[in-house]
Amino acid sequence: MSSTTGGAGRRPRILVTRRIPQAGLDLLAADSTCRVLGGSLPPAREQLLSAFREGWDGIVATLTERVDAELLDACPGLRVVANMAVGFDNIDLAAATDRGVLIANTPGVLTETTADLAWLLMMAAGRQLVAAQGYLGRGEWKTWEPQALLGQDIHGATLGLVGLGRIGQAMARRARGFGMRVLYTDEAPRPEAAAESGAEYRSLPDLLREADFVSVHIPLTRDTSRLFGDREFGMMKPTAVFVNTSRGPIVDQGALYRALRDKVIFAAGIDVFETEPLPLDEPLLKLENVICTPHIGSASVVTRNEMARLAARNALAGASGVRPPSLVNPAAWRTPAT
Ligand code: GLV
Repeated sequence: MSSTTGGAGRRPRILVTRRIPQAGLDLLAADSTCRVLGGSLPPAREQLLSAFREGWDGIVATLTERVDAELLDACPGLRVVANMAVGFDNIDLAAATDRGVLIANTPGVLTETTADLAWLLMMAAGRQLVAAQGYLGRGEWKTWEPQALLGQDIHGATLGLVGLGRIGQAMARRARGFGMRVLYTDEAPRPEAAAESGAEYRSLPDLLREADFVSVHIPLTRDTSRLFGDREFGMMKPTAVFVNTSRGPIVDQGALYRALRDKVIFAAGIDVFETEPLPLDEPLLKLENVICTPHIGSASVVTRNEMARLAARNALAGASGVRPPSLVNPAAWRTPAT
């Protein structure tokens, strides 16, 4: 389904690649001529290319659209692509910057919601929720059992944060309430970010060796792709719980499967995968020491509305020659001639 809203004239023209929350569409409709391509599923590549060729000042995209040189070249007058996500690994940033196209994302508004999900996965994996439900469903619950389904304590444990950006810091704040010791690793120590929670800096190998819970909060880049493999899981404690709510390709999924199957680590909570949607024959789905969710880190009503609004504001600004509030490639920004 596609729809056209807004008036004509000198209003900026904005394409929305797929249906996003109405809160964002309302902002776009008020100040632009806006078309929503497709419906709840992402548009096919050919559909996207042909829509780009219609010429737009701005695009609102989601993380399911690969915005690359081919797509950008199909829309020569394009000024801005506003991604409705904090991650922007679906966008070829260099190609956009070379062409002077502004790229914006939605940081801040999803921080706490994503940390909530990471926390939930950490607790669910640590306390064996999937195995507990399976045990009950198979009729194995015969009596209160002193030694069945024993998990790992979260309170008082050591949390290792891979990345102390906004979401990592939100995790560190939660950890204080659970009396946890917090370690973190990042490209370099971040004393200011760590001050609030007292998080201690470690190299990645040291963090993996010391932490009881390891949670990943870094962007996917060439440097972080497959950061976690057999070697890294091998460094972790056999009682450790691994959580990933960032991007799937940061983890070698085969290595994670082996680590869980062979009890190299205790459990995992995973929201993001190498291939999304996760194929139903994915071996991870057969294990009971992993809880898998379908990339829902930011999926609360309030947060998705805020993300849609921020993406709309970014698109409207960039398309009108104003610097978008959350620009990620300032090198592409040129003050418009007055
Ligand atoms: C979701 O994964 C996001 O990057 O916002």
